[in-house]
Order: sequence, then C-alpha cells, then structure tokens
Amino acid sequence: MYICPICKKRLKLSDNSYRCQNRHCFDMSAKGYVNLLTTKGRDPSKAGDDRQMLRSRTDFLDTDAYKPLADKLCQVIGEAAGNIREPVIIDSGCGEGYYTVRLAASLPRAQVFGIEISKNGAAHTAVRGRAAGCTNLRAAAASSFSLPFREHSADVILSVFAPVTNDEYARVLKKGGTLMVVSPTERHLFALKAILYDQPYENKPNRYSLRSFTLAGEQRLKYTFPVTSDKQAADLFAMTPYYYKTSPEAAARLNGCAPFECEAGFLIQTYRSSL
Ligand SMILES: C[S@@+](CC[C@H](N)C(=O)[O-])C[C@H]1O[C@@H](n2cnc3c(N)ncnc32)[C@H](O)[C@@H]1O
Ligand SMILES: [Zn+2]
Repeated sequence: MYICPICKKRLKLSDNSYRCQNRHCFDMSAKGYVNLLTTKGRDPSKAGDDRQMLRSRTDFLDTDAYKPLADKLCQVIGEAAGNIREPVIIDSGCGEGYYTVRLAASLPRAQVFGIEISKNGAAHTAVRGRAAGCTNLRAAAASSFSLPFREHSADVILSVFAPVTNDEYARVLKKGGTLMVVSPTERHLFALKAILYDQPYENKPNRYSLRSFTLAGEQRLKYTFPVTSDKQAADLFAMTPYYYKTSPEAAARLNGCAPFECEAGFLIQTYRSSL
C-alpha cells in the first residue's frame, strides 16, 4: 500500500523491510512502525510533538475523557465506509494512535494507517495497535503534506486536531472519498482556560481552504468531563496549544485546581472529494 518517499514507486514488504524497484529500503522498527520520512532540510527526530507531550497526551487520553469522540468517529467512519469491502482509512497526524487503534478495532475489515510526523508518535501507535491485537493497523512516520500513498487509493482520511491539506488529501483520496476533519468548538476546554487566564477567550473556528472538496455535513459533539486530579489537568494542558503560549506563573495556577468539570466540544466536518 505504501509508496517510496524517494521515487514514488510501490513499496513491497519482505523480511521486515519495505523495498521499491529502485532498491530504496525502509526497515520496520522493532516497535512495528516504518520511518518513511525523508530527511531533506530537517531532523525528523525533532519533528512533531516531543516525547513529553506524547506521554501527557497518552496519559490524558487513557482516562477516556475523549472516548465519546472516539465512539462517534468509529460510528461515522463506519457508515462512510460501510459498503466498501476492505476500506482504506488513513489517520493523518495520528499522534500516539488513540483514535487510530479504536478505528482499527471497530472496523476489522478495514486497513487502517496511522501517519505521524513524530517518530515517537508513530512508534507509540504501532505499539498500541499490537497491544490491542489489531492486525489491520499499520503505522508510519511521514508527513501529511507528502503522504506515502498512491493517487486515489484511500476511502477515508481522518484529521483530528492535526494538519489539513487540500492538495495532498485530494491526491490520495478516491473520487467521492471522505475527508473527516475534527476541530475544537468555541467552548472546548473553556474551564481550563478560565483557570489559566484572567480573560479567557472562546476558540475561533478553524478555516480550511479545501477547493477540491465539498462539505457534505457537520456535527457537533459537546459534553463535560470531570478533571479529577492536578496530574490530569497538567496532562490536558500539555496537549493543548496553550502549553506553548502560557507564562510559567499562569501555568502554576493549575496546581490545586482539580477537581473541576471541563467542556469538551468537537466539530466533526465531513467533506467529499470532488476530484
Ligand atoms: C494536536 S495533535 C493531535 C494528534 C491526534 N490526532 C489526537 O487527536 O490525539 C497534532 C499531531 O499532528 C502531528 N503533526 C504535525 N505536523 C504534521 C505533519 N506535517 N504530518 C503529520 N503529522 C503532523 C503532530 O506531531 C501531532 O501529533
Ligand atoms: Zn524508491
């Protein structure tokens, strides 16, 4: 299913390595993912979220505070791919694989690919997939802007709080294929922001320029979840963009803040490829 990131020819897996006809070779790591990043211009080990952020995100997501979103995505993507015998689903910018693994487990006929620019994230996705017994899940370190897949080969691309690109998603999706984009609603995590900031602002809606797609539908998933410990609050904070923007003094306000109820709000947009 993968293509070579150098010459774009098909990659075949044998003896734990992916090889193309031009003899470019990419070994499967012991953790079960393949690194398909080309090193042009930057050090891929420093790309994407770092180990600490991934650990925080794993610990937070493992509290299942966002399980309602995972369940919703399994349902909506299951419906979108329902009539396809072996649907190909790509979770683009999959982080440490929380949603990827749940999709693979709930859609056993699908081939599910987790793509993540952080090697740690790709590794984590593969390890999570193995632990869950998902033989239909593959994980690769690669960029959403240069996906290691053939033209029009995927039925669904999912992006949860991750980069969105018109050209690359249109290239890889089949005609009529589904792009699903999840972004935060206005009040997502407002209670957390109210602790951090004197004047918390609502989130502005994300705007994407998706000229090769038509919006087929959108739904909002809203609920509150309990933040039961300072550790959970710190993990949640570390997986948000506020982590980079907040002064140490403001961040210290999280000490002793738990327990509190926090809003979760997800906008789930479904686009169809018109190319
Ligand atoms: C906010 S996180 C969301 C992760 C995951 N989808 C989730 O919701 O748990 C955004 C992710 O996108 C990844 N990312 C950023 N730029 C990327 C790119 N160009 N290609 C692939 N992944 C990228 C980051 O490393 C990070 O893991
Ligand atoms: Zn090649």
